[in-house]
Amino acid sequence: MREARLAREDLILPLFACPGEGVRREVSSMPGVFNLSTDEAAREAAAAFDAGVPAVILFGLPESKDETASGAYASRGVVQEAIRAVRRAVPEMVVIADTCLCEYTSHGHCGVVREGEVLNDESLELLARTAVSQAEAGADIVAPSAMMDGQVGAIREALDDGGFEHVAVMSYAVKYASAFYGPFREAADSAPAFGDRRAYQMDAANAREAMREAELDYAEGADFLMVKPATPYLDILRMVRERFDLPLAAYQVSGEYAMIKAAAERGWIDEKRAMMETLTSIRRAGADVILTYYAVEAARELSHR
Ligand code: PBG
Repeated sequence: MREARLAREDLILPLFACPGEGVRREVSSMPGVFNLSTDEAAREAAAAFDAGVPAVILFGLPESKDETASGAYASRGVVQEAIRAVRRAVPEMVVIADTCLCEYTSHGHCGVVREGEVLNDESLELLARTAVSQAEAGADIVAPSAMMDGQVGAIREALDDGGFEHVAVMSYAVKYASAFYGPFREAADSAPAFGDRRAYQMDAANAREAMREAELDYAEGADFLMVKPATPYLDILRMVRERFDLPLAAYQVSGEYAMIKAAAERGWIDEKRAMMETLTSIRRAGADVILTYYAVEAARELSHR
C-alpha cells in the first residue's frame, strides 16, 4: 500500500573536490563528509556507484580565490579535474557540476562584486564560461546555483554555442536564503566576507515568488527544477510538482544533515530512521531526485529491504 517510494537511483551524492593527492579531510560540522583531492573524489564516487548511487554533484575548493572567480572556469580547475577523474574511474556515473562562483571568489559572493554590490548581468558571463568549462571536462549536467536572474538562459545559450547541446541544465530554481547552508560554507569555505545572500536568494516567507522563479527558469530552458533546502520547504516542492512537468530535484542541505547527525551522536534520535523518514517525505512531497549527503548510507539501507 506504500505510495511514495525511495529508490537508490533517485539519489545524488555531493562531493567537495580540493587540490592535492591523497587528501581526505573531514568537515567538522558534517561527520562523514570530506574535502577530497581528485583521486580520492574518484574513489568516493566509485564506492557510491557500487552502493547503487548513480550520480554525483561536484563542488570545488580552489587553490586560490580572487575577485573574478577565475578558478571556477579554469580548464585545469579543481572541479574540471575532478569531473575528468570521476569520468575515468566510473564511466557510467552521471556527473553533475555545481555552477556557481561563491567557492572561487575572494569575497565569497555568488557573482561579481563592485562597490559592495553583486552585479547580476556581469556575473552571467562568468557563470556561462564556468558551465562551458565543466561541459568540456565531461559533465553530463550543469547545476547553476548562483540565483542570478537570467543564468539558465545565458548558460543554455553558451552550451549550445559551444557544441554542448546534449548537456542538461539542472536549475537551482527555488533557492531560499537559509541558515541551513551553514555547514556547507565551512565545507566549501564560501561564507560571504560581507553582507549576506538575501539580495539574490529567496525569503523563507515567500511561496508565490518561488513559482515565479521556477517559471522563469522553465522559460529559459531548464531541464530540471530544484527546490532547496528540502525538509523546511516541502510545501514548495509540492507546489512546484503540481505546476511544472519538468523533473524535480530537492536538495537536503548540509544543515539538515548536520542536525540529524548531531542529535544522533548524542543518542537523541535514531539516525537511520530519521534519515529514511526525511528522504521519504521529500519524495512524497514530489521530488523525483534528491541531493543528499546521506546518499550512500540511504542506498545501503535500501539495498537491505
Ligand atoms: C553555492 C551553493 C551553496 C549550497 C549549494 N550550492 C551555498 C550557498 O548558497 O551558500 C549549499 C548546499 C548545502 O548547504 O548543503 N551557491
